[in-house]
Amino acid sequence: MHMIAYISDFNGEDNKVERVLEEIVKVAKIENKKRYITGVLFFLDGKVLQIIEGEEPHLHQLMSNIKQDKRHSNVEYLINEKVETRGFSEWNMDSFYLNSTQSFSKDTIKKLTESFIKNLLPRSDMLAFYYKTLLKQKSY
Ligand SMILES: Cc1cc2nc3c(=O)[nH]c(=O)nc-3n(C[C@H](O)[C@H](O)[C@H](O)COP(=O)(O)O)c2cc1C
Repeated sequence: MHMIAYISDFNGEDNKVERVLEEIVKVAKIENKKRYITGVLFFLDGKVLQIIEGEEPHLHQLMSNIKQDKRHSNVEYLINEKVETRGFSEWNMDSFYLNSTQSFSKDTIKKLTESFIKNLLPRSDMLAFYYKTLLKQKSY
């Protein structure tokens, strides 16, 4: 089992972000299911953070598509490594659009955390890392 996490800069106008994300996720949900790729996609302040997990060749194949996708640029890997088990087995590319007026609800944070630590408890450093990346300007 393999996991890749990356950040990138979203391209396009702010008022179109939600619609474009919807389009991406609609395709992703169908395509990822075929190869049992699970994960999440976050959008915050013009940045994307996506985590995908599955068989390594499938992930690299998907990443070669994603890297060429003009809807974002500057794809930068954060994590690209083998993992024991999935952290997001019930998440079929669910996406979270975060902006200044909207933030994670407590329930969402709880669900995310539970989903992650259930399988990846030893990697709490990973969890802390991406929370910090995501939520650096938010307080709860
Ligand atoms: C930020 C971002 C995340 C994406 N995530 C996925 C994904 O998880 N799964 C997927 O199939 N496509 C994803 N895509 C879309 C792919 O880049 C690509 O359009 C899709 O795989 C269809 O490729 P094809 O037209 O060559 O079949 C993503 C695109 C962007 C910009």
